[in-house]
Amino acid sequence: MVIIDGKATAAAIKAEIAAQVKDIVASGGRPPHLGAILVGHDGGSETYVHNKVLACEACGFRSTLIRLEDDITEGELLDKIHELNADDEVDGFIVQLPLPAHINERRIIEAIDYRKDVDGFHPINIGRMALGMPSFISATPKGIYTLMQRYGIETSGKKCVILGRSNIVGQPMAQLMMQKKMGDATVTVCHSHSANIKEECLQADIIIAAIGRPQFLTADMVKPGAVVIDVGTTRVADASRPKGFRLSGDVDFEHVAPLCSAITPVPGGVGPMTICMLMLNTLAAARHEYFK
Ligand code: GUN
Repeated sequence: MVIIDGKATAAAIKAEIAAQVKDIVASGGRPPHLGAILVGHDGGSETYVHNKVLACEACGFRSTLIRLEDDITEGELLDKIHELNADDEVDGFIVQLPLPAHINERRIIEAIDYRKDVDGFHPINIGRMALGMPSFISATPKGIYTLMQRYGIETSGKKCVILGRSNIVGQPMAQLMMQKKMGDATVTVCHSHSANIKEECLQADIIIAAIGRPQFLTADMVKPGAVVIDVGTTRVADASRPKGFRLSGDVDFEHVAPLCSAITPVPGGVGPMTICMLMLNTLAAARHEYFK
């Protein structure tokens, strides 16, 4: 059984990105530049954005963090987005989610120039990905796909079950796994209305668990030799930890791992890959790789 090391893979990819940025700068170009808009002071969002800024530094990117108060109007936020869309010095930018309730998230995402949408959340990027066209692919599915590739996990012709149908993970993951010359797998998506989830999982060569329910996938649901990817990162109370909680995945790792040919741990599996994929998307934006 192989434990897939997302932390080491992400570190290796970041070093590769940094080397490419050095080459760009050595040949007279400017480093890639990521913008991040953070609205309000949500603790989780502050941490995510801080880590994105640190990853930019590690990769040799420039970053600009734009902090806005949570009483900002939707119109004011749209103005800021239009400013970044028009700024030739900014290659790509993100608006950290969630946004305050009075702001329409969908309207905000649609206002981002899809050529700068390094989160891959804009409908044009999602549509292009579904059609197999070059596009920004959102970080978590791209990170999972990259991990499987780097570990030589065969996906072509395999039966893949995805648990969860969220816009950010389940749906784009299903697209990638079924895509020609990408996953080339036979894909089943299970969700809250699915019948026979256990039977579906038992047939799967690859299970990707992204439902946000701690320890949902148990050993009696997994075929021996399967590959299991755990996207869950739910905080559960744990008085023995300094922060008073630990991260729990969607997989009962202790009992599932011995059955698997390969499995991702939580933490240290999918999580570290996501910011690294945002860096790859920003590099691609700077190089105008997808949209000439
Ligand atoms: N909130 C949680 N995950 C993400 C992400 O990947 N991008 C943005 N913009 N906000 C998030």
